[in-house]
Amino acid sequence: MTISQALKWAQKELMEACDRPLFEAELLLAHHLQKERLYLHIHSDETIEDAEGYKRLVERRAKHEPYEYIAGSASFYDIELEVEPGVLIPRPETEILIDKVAQIIEEEGITRIAEIGVGSGAISIVLARKFPQLRIIATDICDTPLQVAGRNIQKFGLKDQIELRKSNLIDEVPEALELVVSNPPYIAEDCILESNVVDYEPQEALFGGKAGDELLRQIITDVSRRGIRYLACEMGYDQKAPIEAFVKDFEIECIEFYQDLAGFDRGFVIKFKG
Ligand SMILES: C[S@@+](CC[C@H](N)C(=O)[O-])C[C@H]1O[C@@H](n2cnc3c(N)ncnc32)[C@H](O)[C@@H]1O
Repeated sequence: MTISQALKWAQKELMEACDRPLFEAELLLAHHLQKERLYLHIHSDETIEDAEGYKRLVERRAKHEPYEYIAGSASFYDIELEVEPGVLIPRPETEILIDKVAQIIEEEGITRIAEIGVGSGAISIVLARKFPQLRIIATDICDTPLQVAGRNIQKFGLKDQIELRKSNLIDEVPEALELVVSNPPYIAEDCILESNVVDYEPQEALFGGKAGDELLRQIITDVSRRGIRYLACEMGYDQKAPIEAFVKDFEIECIEFYQDLAGFDRGFVIKFKG
């Protein structure tokens, strides 16, 4: 089977599962051959070694398994992160949360922060790379994310900057902190999600409780109680009003909500009173 024949076959197989079947067929073949996509166009008549191996990858994708789990890696911000089932695939909208936090770190000269729900390590790793003076304690309640984040932290040589800790929220982080950042699970229990998400990504990373914002509320409460000055979180597109009402009971200087690139409410930054 040549490259062009394989792509034609895969495009058909992926028609139902993917919005861009040819593109995904190319991504999978490039991954399988360990080449750039451009290589496929230049060598379209070349015979593929291990065509059966490629077919198996395409069949997994046709069953809606995310490309990132098949390839074992995800592009995020300016880096490639190792991912595997059990760890959330980092989303582009989380890059906005990082930029919000980076601005505060820069303006306030912050050096001690915590991340709640480290997942693959996406947020902590990008922040640590931006700010070499930054020390981060990154928690997660699940073992697989802690293991995968550990490997990603090692890959980028950031072991001196990021310490991983198994913890519910920041319960096991008694250290003084200036800021907490989190992209916690915030989806409501009864929300219907696409198959590639709900059938493959970890439930613990997606669902935040019956209403969805239960963990967000607990994070706000914990951070306020601990006298930590800043909190930056991602949230669901429909959670601005409940969060706005919830923070009325806290001593806050201000809350700023931000939108994602599609214009949906996507997160907030709280500055608590000093
Ligand atoms: C939406 S994922 C975010 C992962 C990563 N930070 C990112 O943005 O790609 C949420 C993470 O929070 C973790 N988590 C869920 N409940 C938690 C809790 N109570 N305390 C700490 N981590 C928790 C999940 O295991 C998951 O890794």
